Amino acid sequence: MGLFSKDIKTMDDLFVHTLRDIYYAEHQITKALPKMIDKASDPQLKQAFQSHLRETEGQIQRLEQVFKLHGVEAKGVTCEAIDGIVKEAESVISDTGDKEVLDAAMVAAAQAVEHYEISRYGTLVTWAEQLGRPDCAQLLKQTLAEEKATDSKLTDIAEGHVNRQAA
Ligand SMILES: [Fe+2]
Ligand SMILES: [Fe+2]
Repeated sequence: MGLFSKDIKTMDDLFVHTLRDIYYAEHQITKALPKMIDKASDPQLKQAFQSHLRETEGQIQRLEQVFKLHGVEAKGVTCEAIDGIVKEAESVISDTGDKEVLDAAMVAAAQAVEHYEISRYGTLVTWAEQLGRPDCAQLLKQTLAEEKATDSKLTDIAEGHVNRQAA
């Protein structure tokens, strides 16, 4: 369903559509992270990807709770944005030979994913509140905080040593 499809008539429809978009995105992220864990050389980076994979699985369950609270079916809709970000990450991974440069490239790719998620969850929290769903907003806020923490952990890893090792 396209974003401007006639199936979206109300703010509530738009909220549910965007929940389904991020639900699909989180599933794609759980498929992409194991490959990044496998390719990461830096132990701190590998560990950060591993812990975010577990966190992402929890975020999927949290979204299922939001769907349930809101009384709609938990299902995904294709999110072309995350497909593009993941595809670009995969192509940079396969094109980068040096393992330290590869770590720097993967941090950058992972931060593009986090920024996408921060944007989506920020919007969803605001819409949930506006639609009179503080219960949903509370759950979505927990995920938003995890995405922000992951983003700043990745910045610390990059600025701490990964970028220097790659230079
Ligand atoms: Fe996520
Ligand atoms: Fe994330």
